Amino acid sequence: MHLKNLTVSNFKNIRETVITCSPRLNCLIGNNGAGKTNILDALYYLSFTKSFFISIDQMNICHGEKWFMIKGIYERSGMEEEIVCGYQDGQKKQVKRNSKTYKRMADHIGLLPLVMVSPNDAVLILGGSDERRKFMDGVISQYDAAYLDDLLRYNRALLQRNNLLKQMAADPLTEMGMLELYDEQLTIAGERIYRNRNAFIDQLIPVFRKYYSAISADAEEVGLEYLSDLSNGSYDQSLKSSVEKDKAAQYTTKGIHRDELVLTLGRFPIRKLGSQGQQKTYLVALKLAQFEFIRQIAGVKPILLLDDIFDKLDKNRVEQIVKMVSGEQFGQIFITDTNREHLDAILHSVTKDYHIFRVTDGNITRES
Ligand SMILES: Nc1ncnc2c1ncn2[C@@H]1O[C@H](COP(=O)(O)OP(=O)(O)OP(=O)(O)O)[C@@H](O)[C@H]1O
Ligand SMILES: [Mg+2]
Repeated sequence: MHLKNLTVSNFKNIRETVITCSPRLNCLIGNNGAGKTNILDALYYLSFTKSFFISIDQMNICHGEKWFMIKGIYERSGMEEEIVCGYQDGQKKQVKRNSKTYKRMADHIGLLPLVMVSPNDAVLILGGSDERRKFMDGVISQYDAAYLDDLLRYNRALLQRNNLLKQMAADPLTEMGMLELYDEQLTIAGERIYRNRNAFIDQLIPVFRKYYSAISADAEEVGLEYLSDLSNGSYDQSLKSSVEKDKAAQYTTKGIHRDELVLTLGRFPIRKLGSQGQQKTYLVALKLAQFEFIRQIAGVKPILLLDDIFDKLDKNRVEQIVKMVSGEQFGQIFITDTNREHLDAILHSVTKDYHIFRVTDGNITRES
């Protein structure tokens, strides 16, 4: 699966551009603020019907304009697929596959798998545990629609249970009968979510380690550990036994909403101990592991977007990454950089199959 042609109109600082992509490596070169990341975001949009960065569609319209449009022509399982995403100020967003409008955006997700490696991934290390849960949820729900339903059901029951706990604290005579129902709903959805997260991380760990050691030439040992209240016995039981504590706290203290993913480097938390380059390596390896995971499940190679991976990494690590993603397990790739010198040096020895694009002030031209 790969993108053959891309047309972008009035999306952020890109007024009008049409490019023909290489099925393998595409490099976007340009100065800070030129629009390289915006192009990657347009590709992300075509896969997920939304921006990676900005959830308000209106803010993606080029300043002073009233609409934007992104069109991609893909080759997928030997067939051509035309995907168009359009948004006009004040109207409903439209996504079309081969001229047919989707009724539900969710039906499009998964058709064109894509993995974005971005400087924003740093929140996985530096942010709160909710960021790491979001990471797990994002990957799993890309291939398992039932998982998303479980999450919605769980969160609804959690909200209701917490509201009841607050009421009970305000008024000791509150009817408690509903608690049992909420516990049951939390248990059913929670245990399924726990099993899915656990299985996902189990499968991810060996692949993640493999990538980390390949990029770092075995320099460091990394780990990934999934911690959950649900790992020690019956969740229903632990909800029941913590009810007094929950009443005092006025919220539910046990559950998958408290899950944590511990990221370690040589047995210590990478957040405290890792150098910037080690943290970056960690994140790239994690995203490449995610790539492999989705590839196996979806049966196609996702499109891989590598934004700013040269920042903070030494020459050897960058070279390892580019060599790796040029290999057979990977498909179409888009890489950004501010100058083409170190890319040229690496690419020369790795592959001949690449396109270089110069991005200047929202304009994109092909270079040879
Ligand atoms: N809605 C919009 N309309 C017009 N311009 C916009 C809009 N949103 C963002 N921009 C502009 O897009 C530019 C940023 O582009 P982008 O993030 O793609 O740069 P970049 O080439 O990736 O730069 P860097 O090398 O710093 O990462 C900024 O100048 C920003 O002002
Ligand atoms: Mg950028």
